[in-house]
Amino acid sequence: MKIVLSVAALASVAYADITFNVVGYPSTNTGAFGVNVGDQIIKLASNETTFPVWTGTVPGSTGATEYAYVELNAAGAAVKTEPFKRKLSDPAATTTPNEFFERQTTVWGLPRIPYTYFATYPSNTKAFRAEQIATFHVTAPAALMAGMLADPMNAQNVKADIRFISNDTIHSQTNVTFGLSGKSSKEHVKQAFRFKFDTAISQKFFHRPNLKLRSMVMDPTMMREMLYIDMLNSAGVATQQGAWVRLFINNEPYGLYLMVDDISGSFLKQTVHGGDSKVANGSLVQMNAFPENGQQFNADLVYKGPSLADYQKGNYDSKKLGPGDTAEEPIKELIDFMKDLQDFDPASTPDPIAYWEQRMDFDGFLRCMALEYLG
Ligand SMILES: *[C@@H]1O[C@H](CO)[C@@H](O)[C@H](O)[C@H]1NC(C)=O
Ligand SMILES: *[C@@H]1O[C@H](CO)[C@@H](O)[C@H](O)[C@H]1NC(C)=O
Ligand SMILES: *[C@@H]1O[C@H](CO)[C@@H](O)[C@H](O)[C@H]1NC(C)=O
Ligand SMILES: *[C@@H]1O[C@H](CO)[C@@H](O)[C@H](O)[C@H]1NC(C)=O
Repeated sequence: MKIVLSVAALASVAYADITFNVVGYPSTNTGAFGVNVGDQIIKLASNETTFPVWTGTVPGSTGATEYAYVELNAAGAAVKTEPFKRKLSDPAATTTPNEFFERQTTVWGLPRIPYTYFATYPSNTKAFRAEQIATFHVTAPAALMAGMLADPMNAQNVKADIRFISNDTIHSQTNVTFGLSGKSSKEHVKQAFRFKFDTAISQKFFHRPNLKLRSMVMDPTMMREMLYIDMLNSAGVATQQGAWVRLFINNEPYGLYLMVDDISGSFLKQTVHGGDSKVANGSLVQMNAFPENGQQFNADLVYKGPSLADYQKGNYDSKKLGPGDTAEEPIKELIDFMKDLQDFDPASTPDPIAYWEQRMDFDGFLRCMALEYLG
C-alpha cells in the first residue's frame, strides 16, 4: 500500500501541469505573449481583469521544465524570445510567479540589515517587499494625464484604475485618486506621483492607503532612500516603508520608482500605533526643509512668537489639528513645544531627561539624530 502511494505521489509531481504567468506589454495592440516549452510555443491569455499578466497552463510540463517567454504578433508568431532559459525555483510548484518579460530574476535573496533594536511595529504588509520589483499598472483618462504632465505646477488629480502585480498577487482597484507629488521634484522631467485609496468607499491597498511613488531623480544610484529606510528600521525608528516598483501609465513605461508610505493619519495609525484605532489623534504638521521663494528660514523649530503669523508662510503646514490646536492657531501645540525648546536650561531643570520624555519620544529622537548624523 505504502509503495503504491509513494509512486502515485511521485507521479503527481512529475506530471503536474504548470501554469505560466508573465507580465508583459506587447509592442503592438494586437500582440500577445506565449511561453516556449520544449521548442513549442503555447499562447498565453490575458483579459481586462489580469492585463498585463498573461497566463496559461501547459499540459505535460513539470517543475523541471525549462521555458522562456515569447512576445507574439497577431498571427501568433514569435517576434521576440527571451535570451535565457527559466526553470521553477521550487520543483514541486505548479505555477510560476508573475515573472516580468525579459527580467530573469523575480525575487532576490537580499540579506536583511540586522535589527539592532526591534522595529517599533515591523511592517507586515504585502505592499513593501524589498526582494522584488512589483509592477504598477495605471489606467487614466489620456487627455487628463497629458494635461497633468504638460503643466505639473497646476496639475489636477485624476481618477485612475490601478493594478499592482507582485510575484504572487494581482491587486486591482478602480477610481483611485492619482496625481503628482512633491514640490521641487515637479521641476524635473520624470515626475513623482501619489495615490490615495479612499477607505470610506472600501478602496484598499494592503492597509497602506496613501502612497507616493518617488522619482529618485536626485539620486543616480536610486538606492539611497531605500538604504536609509532599512537603517531606520534596523534602529527601531518608526519610519515610512518602501519598495521599488515599475510604473506603467496607459501601457507606457514611466520607469523605476520607489514606492513609499505617504505620511498620513492611516500611516501613523499603522506605524506608530500598531494599527490601534482607539489612540487619540495628535496634531500633524508638515514642515518644509528648504527655504523657497526668497524666504530666509526653513522649519528650523526656532521659536519666533506665540502665533502662526510669527512664522514664515509654508514653513509649517497643519495637516491635522491636535487637541491643543484651533482653526485660528493650527500649530499651537508645536509652538508650545518650540517655546519649551527655547526656554530649556539643563542647569536649572531638575531632571532634564524626564522633562523631555514628557514632551517627546526621546529615545526615538536620539536614534533618529544618530542616523541623521551618520547618513
Ligand atoms: C481573466 O483571466 C483569469 C485568469 O486566467 C480568469 O481567472 C478570469 O476568469 C478571466 N476573467 C474574464 C472576465 O474573462
Ligand atoms: C513572493 O515573494 C516573497 C518575497 O518578496 C516570498 O516570500 C514569497 O514566498 C513569494 N511567493 C511565491 C508564491 O513565490
Ligand atoms: C469614485 O470615488 C469618488 C470619491 O473619491 C466617489 O465620490 C465616486 O462615487 C466614485 N465613483 C465610482 C464610479 O465609484
Ligand atoms: C482619528 O482621526 C480619524 C480621521 O482622520 C478618525 O477616523 C478617528 O476616529 C480618529 N480617532 C480618534 C480616537 O478620535
